[in-house]
Amino acid sequence: MKNKMHFLVGTTLITMLVVGLTWIIITVNSDMQIPELDNALAQRGLELAQSNGCIACHSLDGGVGIGPTWLGMYGKTETLKDGSTAIVDADYIIESIVRPEARLVQGYENLMVRYFLSEEDLQALVEFTRQLSLQEP
Ligand code: HEC
Repeated sequence: MKNKMHFLVGTTLITMLVVGLTWIIITVNSDMQIPELDNALAQRGLELAQSNGCIACHSLDGGVGIGPTWLGMYGKTETLKDGSTAIVDADYIIESIVRPEARLVQGYENLMVRYFLSEEDLQALVEFTRQLSLQEP
């Protein structure tokens, strides 16, 4: 009898914990501003950014992160660690993903690992960041 009580209290507490955590995760994620995207390629880019964990280090809203924000990234002139500059275009973005150590952004550490993505996935990420930079801040 006593054991059954313990079991009931235990499962109730665990259920509450799981429900609570799920609620927190959903709330936090829905707080993330998802930009409006006008094509399937960009939409796929967003999904890739989520599933590959890019957005753990890169904010989409100008917020500070381990890596530079993606808001306004596409098309800007980036200052690199060695003091030189680079225009952020498709080639630069793809190089940053497949060989992150090749050109480091000033003010950031070399913390990004290289990703092995298909050409199509790379194009999707480029298209997503391009559209993100067309948005109003
Ligand atoms: C562990 C954190 C981390 C993750 C995860 C990460 N990055 Fe980065 N990323 C960085 C840091 C730090 C920099 C700046 C240093 C450098 O240039 O490598 C950077 C730089 C970049 C740049 C150049 C940004 C600029 O303003 O010039 C691009 C583009 C980029 N990352 C894309 C991606 C993509 C796409 C993914 C996911 C497939 C990703 N990153 C995942 C940390 C991360």
